[in-house]
Amino acid sequence: MINHPITRLGIISALHEEQEGLVQAMQGAATVAHGMRDYTMGQLWGIDAVCVLSRIGKVAAAMTAIMLVEKFGVTHILFTGVAGSGDALVRVGDIVIGEALVQHDMDASPLFPRYEVPLTGIARFPSDSRLSGQLAGAARGFVDSDFMEVIGKEERHDFRLGQPTVHRGLIASGDQFVSSRAHIERLKVAHPGLLAVEMEGAAVAQVCFELGVPFAVIRTISDNANEDAATDFMRFVKSVAARYAFHIVRRFCQDAPGRPD
Ligand code: ADE
Repeated sequence: MINHPITRLGIISALHEEQEGLVQAMQGAATVAHGMRDYTMGQLWGIDAVCVLSRIGKVAAAMTAIMLVEKFGVTHILFTGVAGSGDALVRVGDIVIGEALVQHDMDASPLFPRYEVPLTGIARFPSDSRLSGQLAGAARGFVDSDFMEVIGKEERHDFRLGQPTVHRGLIASGDQFVSSRAHIERLKVAHPGLLAVEMEGAAVAQVCFELGVPFAVIRTISDNANEDAATDFMRFVKSVAARYAFHIVRRFCQDAPGRPD
């Protein structure tokens, strides 16, 4: 695929807290309400952008991605939010960038292979390598230069956050908040290489594949997808993940090729 510059970037998060700060940082912001969502358009560090909350789940995310492309003219999509860990080496506070996304609750077998999205021939939708590479650069910049400054000592202590690691690999999405050890263990076995589980990324991936729009997904690990997953979840999103998202997107936009000075 030819790599086009970012003409208009769509930024989706599921929850308000995951996108906090970005809308306030927009220059010349104007909001249009459509289909139970607020689409805020403006400039983010020199990039023409549209920020929107998808709410939770695959259908909500798919609807949002389609609207961004068809009604708001975005050329690229970035999904930023939180996820449960899908691997022992992926810790709370780490960052996962999706190289590929699978819908772990898709099962049209025996008509089609398990996990394959019928009539696409694809189970694992690859993200755009250039966009994901730029995002990984922004995430590394955040970890190396911003993390200690923007995440308070109390949060680092309470969530036992060490220096975060940036991982790249498989993310699985489904309409389930994974909160049992048995469930996450089954998903790990079913999806070798799994790094994280969430509820939207693979739906955005399918829409972007079908519409030919480059996309990337970045997730901060909020929990271990076990019985403790919901404990302190909202506090983590608000006091930790919101800051990750803001500074990573800032770095992503500031470093985007072709951006006006
Ligand atoms: N998003 C954050 N944590 C999650 C989990 N454990 N399951 C699904 N989505 C999530």
